[in-house]
Amino acid sequence: MARQKFRVFCVAMMMLNLFVCVLVGVTWNLTLDRSNSTRVRIPSARFWRQQERSKSFWNKEQQLLNFVHNPVLNSAPPTWLNDTGPLDPCARDHRVPAQIQDYNTLPQHLQDFLLHMRCRTHPALIEQPGLCGPGPFLLLAVKSMTPHFDRRQAIRQTWGQAGLSANRTVATVFLLGSAESADHHPDLRGMLGHEARLHGDVLQWDYRDTFYNLTLKEVLFLEWFGRSCPDARFVLKGDDDVFINTPRVIAFLEGLTESRARDLFIGDVISNADPHRDPKLKYFVPESVFAGRYPPYAGGGGYLYSGELALRLRNVSRRVALYPIDDVYTGMCLGKLGLAPEKHDGFKTFDIEEKYRSNPCMYRSLMLVHSQTPQEMMRIWSWITSPELDCQ
Ligand SMILES: *[C@@H]1O[C@H](CO)[C@@H](O)[C@H](O)[C@H]1NC(C)=O
Ligand SMILES: *[C@@H]1O[C@H](CO)[C@@H](O)[C@H](O)[C@H]1NC(C)=O
Ligand SMILES: *[C@@H]1O[C@H](CO)[C@@H](O)[C@H](O)[C@H]1NC(C)=O
Ligand SMILES: *[C@@H]1O[C@H](CO)[C@@H](O)[C@H](O)[C@H]1NC(C)=O
Ligand SMILES: *[C@@H]1O[C@H](CO)[C@@H](O)[C@H](O)[C@H]1NC(C)=O
Repeated sequence: MARQKFRVFCVAMMMLNLFVCVLVGVTWNLTLDRSNSTRVRIPSARFWRQQERSKSFWNKEQQLLNFVHNPVLNSAPPTWLNDTGPLDPCARDHRVPAQIQDYNTLPQHLQDFLLHMRCRTHPALIEQPGLCGPGPFLLLAVKSMTPHFDRRQAIRQTWGQAGLSANRTVATVFLLGSAESADHHPDLRGMLGHEARLHGDVLQWDYRDTFYNLTLKEVLFLEWFGRSCPDARFVLKGDDDVFINTPRVIAFLEGLTESRARDLFIGDVISNADPHRDPKLKYFVPESVFAGRYPPYAGGGGYLYSGELALRLRNVSRRVALYPIDDVYTGMCLGKLGLAPEKHDGFKTFDIEEKYRSNPCMYRSLMLVHSQTPQEMMRIWSWITSPELDCQ
């Protein structure tokens, strides 16, 4: 009797299965009919993109990195990608003048950049391994330069106060290269050493601290972060002449959902930008060095991202050739992770209108404002922390 029931049950299940199959088949056919492709189309050309030899130096370097890091293509690179660079990535790259046809006409700083483009390891001169402790809620990483003592001090006394802010742990670190006498800097090593011992918040690496080496600062920071601060929940990286409304930033971060917090990267985003081709401009990059359009990127004045994403950026940055403009470089790294920065109106990296500059309530609602002197920072901080300020 039980066997009989079981057989009936099996047959019923089979019928049901068949019915479902027919149903799926019919819908499938209908879908195909509607899209006017009842036959499988066989592509007439190769459906993957073959790497074509780029004429631009950066693009070629990137193609080589793509090849080296692609686990599927574990064969020898094509001959045109034959790597004949120096064995020591930090030696002067002798190929550069021959591979870039207008090399001799390029501005000196761009030549310097290209000659050392492969070098991304520089020893630390001043380190702070214990700075982060068990992982702050927010790490403020500030790009500074040796002579800017007053800016750093203003930041320590205002928005960069380490410790508790709005009941959350905040740590601040200043990122410096070395101010070399070749660039006509006076010798400030003694003073910097004193400052570093006094405050314990200065990181310095042994490379020429110039505008076109800021990308180096970015990758060295990310490597340090991975080693010494991997548990920080969020990172705000900015210049030493911005004002950051730290309590506002913390309030914003506390309101995020877990999934949004994981991939967070916000700032003042620039989209669809092309490289500047006019040699007179600060951001000039010729076609012989870079071809293509820039990915969306957040202006380098300041951007906010998650610590988890910082670790992913650290990993992926090893596969992205250094680029002379640091914020574009970070956009390239994000692009390689399949992400894009998100625009947030609280970030004013290109300054605010004159009429708002002296309006205290203006600063209450913003997260970051560019171009502030140390004195302005002190003044704005006293405004936004004043319990008497009424901004209704
Ligand atoms: C359907 O495909 C045929 C052959 O590819 C094409 O000529 C025709 O225009 C298509 N019709 C529609 C509605 O797309
Ligand atoms: C790559 O370059 C080296 C040194 O210039 C040369 O000896 C070698 O034959 C080249 N390999 C290929 C595959 O072209
Ligand atoms: C501050 O944080 C502590 C520990 O996270 C928590 O117990 C306390 O309630 C918080 N205080 C306020 C005012 O949010
Ligand atoms: C970047 O730093 C390296 C190492 O100090 C230096 O050789 C190079 O000239 C610097 N590049 C620029 C553009 O200043
Ligand atoms: C970064 O790479 C290391 C190994 O190279 C890996 O163990 C780690 O999980 C990666 N981190 C992230 C966040 O992808």
